[in-house]
Amino acid sequence: MSQLYDTRRYLTNFDSRRVPHLFTDVLVIGSGVAGLRAAIEAAEHAPTLLITKGRLSDSNTWAAQGGVAVVTNPADSLDAHIADTITVGCGLCDRSAVEQIVRAGPAAIEELIGWGAKFDRVDGHLARGREGGHSASRIVHARGDATGAEIAKTLIRIARETDGLRLFEDCFAIDLITLDGCCVGAITFHPKYGHQMFWARQTILATGGCGRVYRESTNPEIATGDGRAMAYRAGAVLRDMEMMQFHPTTLYIAGATRALISEAVRGEGAYLVNREGERFMSAYHADAELAPRDVVSRAIVKEMVRTGATCVHLDVRHIGAERFARRFPMISELCHQFDIDVGRSLIPVRPAAHYMVGGVATDLRTRTSVPGLLACGEVACTGLHGANRLASNSLLEGLVLGVEAGRQAIDTLNHGPAFHAAPIQNEMPASPRTELDISDVQNSLRSVMWHNVGMERHGDRLAETRQIIDFWGMYVMDKLFDDRDEWEVQNLLTVARLITASAARRTESRGVHFRTDYPETDDAVWRKRQSVQRGDSGLTFTDTPCAD
Ligand code: FAD
Ligand code: SIN
Repeated sequence: MSQLYDTRRYLTNFDSRRVPHLFTDVLVIGSGVAGLRAAIEAAEHAPTLLITKGRLSDSNTWAAQGGVAVVTNPADSLDAHIADTITVGCGLCDRSAVEQIVRAGPAAIEELIGWGAKFDRVDGHLARGREGGHSASRIVHARGDATGAEIAKTLIRIARETDGLRLFEDCFAIDLITLDGCCVGAITFHPKYGHQMFWARQTILATGGCGRVYRESTNPEIATGDGRAMAYRAGAVLRDMEMMQFHPTTLYIAGATRALISEAVRGEGAYLVNREGERFMSAYHADAELAPRDVVSRAIVKEMVRTGATCVHLDVRHIGAERFARRFPMISELCHQFDIDVGRSLIPVRPAAHYMVGGVATDLRTRTSVPGLLACGEVACTGLHGANRLASNSLLEGLVLGVEAGRQAIDTLNHGPAFHAAPIQNEMPASPRTELDISDVQNSLRSVMWHNVGMERHGDRLAETRQIIDFWGMYVMDKLFDDRDEWEVQNLLTVARLITASAARRTESRGVHFRTDYPETDDAVWRKRQSVQRGDSGLTFTDTPCAD
């Protein structure tokens, strides 16, 4: 059924004759690892402008703990990292994406070190942690469990020092502007300057994840799926939208936000125990606590159901409080805030939505299906992760494809057609329909997504959820809002609809997508990736078989 989700092109009314304009060669939207790296690369060669909706430091990148998966040990090999990524991806990885990104990893880390990033070392060599699904210890980390902040600080400093790069904070991208099917920039909102039009010859979307579509999430508040929703409205193809990854271990304290307890903690030897104090992971997988993330998350849920508990526990007592605090200073401090003495007590944990595998479909040069629009980082879907992301492969992807996006933007500028701004306006009449309480819709959406489109899905619940989202859409997608929070809810609804519809269509279980009514993997029918796009009569799906 066609919905306002599919027919509404812009979330805001505007008239280019009445809005301040800014012109740039390259516009980057987002200040995480992908956007910053892309902007630094592009600005070497052409005027570049980066906008971000909060502070430069507001990103999933800043929150990243475990580290970057990269081969830095002669005893390890790129082939092994490639093989691990493909195994964990459960048949849906694009081998060429995996090869390109993994092989570029060591140079990307060397570059960061050259720029001053301080990765942890042992005897002068890079320290390497272990995470689930990896056949070797290859996760490089910084300040113990503050890897993301170290990378982000380094990139922000370099970005500030880069001539030709302007950085705008508090600038919310409402929509991508398209003329004749090409992306020519974005319409934005700034609390002080109001609406602005950023005209760009090339636009790089690097808006990150959408974990906030779920009630239980490791993601900071910025992760509202704006980029996916904007790209959808602009006509871009999105891919693998059913593939939301759930992290097994977030701190479970009722009433507190769900803070991540890094997988690296299990890599250092922590056990998972159920409410009876028994280790249970070896009953589910030969690699026990270091099995791939989807396996561990589902095992935890099974144990919670089996024992009637609201969480399981991480046992780090044998590691010792002092050693634990040295290796994981942030997590240690977090536990301390809740009076958990990790030397004596167990840490209550349970899974939460963590990483969105699906996103705006791109090729390996970061090109989307919309000319003029590139995408990189978590907002994009290259096929690196398949049906399940190997731990710590996403910072790597952001670093490597950020560079690629910057280069691709410059190559297209040099060879592409000349660009002209043109008058453009969007005018939609105010809706007479009832106004819903938007924060109520947001909370209810996150709750229904958690229960019905979470780690376990069933066709009946997915169908019901689609109806609920379509119902809210009638009262939310028809409105003209003038506030970031409200636009974000419109984006969350749009993304939730894409996740739910894609999950309903994939009638099998694979990787992070588990259907209780189709618990088996069905390679004969479903060894393919789903793409979705807006069509004249609603969502249009296309399937692409996966090559071996
Ligand atoms: P982000 O870092 O999320 O940046 C997106 C940017 O876009 C933000 O600046 C945001 O404000 C901006 N933005 C969004 N919407 C708009 C808009 N409408 N207008 C303007 N700006 C906008 N991965 C690993 O590889 N290793 C780890 O150890 C690891 N740990 C993690 C721990 C946590 C708690 C979380 C949440 C994630 C972790 N991940 C980890 C995943 C990884 O951090 C992310 O996948 C990665 O950082 C995404 O980078 P990005 O640049 O694509 O997006
Ligand atoms: C973690 O530290 O457990 C997160 C790693 C990741 O998401 O890749």
